[in-house]
Amino acid sequence: MRMRAAVLEEFGQPLVVQEIDLEEPKTGEVLVRLVACGVCHTDMYTASGVDPSGYAPAVLGHEGAGVVEAVGEGVDSLRVGDHVVTLFSPQCRECEHCLSPRTNICLAIRDQQGKGYLPDGTTRLSRDGEPIRHFMGTSTFAEYTVMPAIALAKVSPEAPLDRACLFACGLSTGLGAAMYTAKVEAGTTCVVFGAGMVGLGAVAGCRLQGADRIVCVDLSQERLQMARHQGATDVMIGGADTVEAILEMTGGFGADHTIEATGLVGVMRQAVESARMGWGLATMCGVAGKGETLDVTPRLLITGRRVAGSSFGGVKGRDQVPQLVQRYLDGDIDVDAFLSHRLTLDEVNRGFDLMHAQDGIRSVIEFA
Ligand SMILES: NC(=O)c1ccc[n+]([C@@H]2O[C@H](COP(=O)([O-])OP(=O)(O)OC[C@H]3O[C@@H](n4cnc5c(N)ncnc54)[C@H](O)[C@@H]3O)[C@@H](O)[C@H]2O)c1
Ligand SMILES: [Zn+2]
Ligand SMILES: [Zn+2]
Repeated sequence: MRMRAAVLEEFGQPLVVQEIDLEEPKTGEVLVRLVACGVCHTDMYTASGVDPSGYAPAVLGHEGAGVVEAVGEGVDSLRVGDHVVTLFSPQCRECEHCLSPRTNICLAIRDQQGKGYLPDGTTRLSRDGEPIRHFMGTSTFAEYTVMPAIALAKVSPEAPLDRACLFACGLSTGLGAAMYTAKVEAGTTCVVFGAGMVGLGAVAGCRLQGADRIVCVDLSQERLQMARHQGATDVMIGGADTVEAILEMTGGFGADHTIEATGLVGVMRQAVESARMGWGLATMCGVAGKGETLDVTPRLLITGRRVAGSSFGGVKGRDQVPQLVQRYLDGDIDVDAFLSHRLTLDEVNRGFDLMHAQDGIRSVIEFA
């Protein structure tokens, strides 16, 4: 079929919205009609050419939500008409990692997905017979996408898809970092560094877990106000003396949990240093620049602090994204507050500009 999609033609250049071809779903695959798609940093990072693993031409986008239009052979987990959220982090339910409760990092299709192919090593996207590669296994800056069924979470049809799409990446990452990676306990003190989509999600996750005190650190007063709205009990502007300030707030010990959501290694270090002696857990969500390293004094670890990393918030996508969406429907998470701008597919590059200017938390593309 023919469809419109935003193609990364050349690094550092705007995406080009155009008609391309999409093949039918093969065995284990599903055709999804996109209804909404968030614009995320990873899309912009890849488009800029800074990401060493990037490739072109490719159809970007990974925060999608839509409706199943057709299923390939052997797909019994989804039917035509189901509402789905796309998962760049799939869940096959069969590999060693999926069978372990200790991780959400599925091994099933990693290699092909990283290279821009569907699990059988080919693409469904093309133009004049020339293949165009998929991105993060999702390619949701397009009217339609073909994806493996193991990379689609079936969500309640009651959830508006322009809100549900935020659960495809940033929001679930933040919520999950608190709920599934850190497993924040009730009554604890938590510090969240960063109040973008991920950090605000982490604040909400700490609140849902029953944390007593939730401190949010950011550079923007406006974003700190949003953090208060999501449940932060204290907010502060970040800087060189942040660790000192947090130690002071916690009787000199540090916080039970710290969660980093900035992507800055200097802030990651602050997250480790402001975790509590004895048992403080510092959870890293941010994606640092290529070649950057995290500097930690080993003494901090010997005296009981721990460091964890969190990919997609530790969320096992097919099982837990529907549960998180349900909590939104139950009124536990104010998702509307994150949706700052609505764009058409043709305005996708404006989504990058808005993100660059830190204008709003998320821009969402809506497909007519
Ligand atoms: N682990 C994952 O699976 C995953 C998924 C999505 C995003 N991410 C990463 O998470 C990070 C956050 O994503 P986002 O969409 O929320 O980004 P964002 O840019 O919207 O938010 C980052 C926030 O950090 C704040 N900040 C900057 N310097 C600071 C400082 N010194 N102290 C405190 N706050 C500071 C900024 O003001 C901003 O509000 C990025 O690195 C992103 O790549 C990771
Ligand atoms: Zn993302
Ligand atoms: Zn798996």
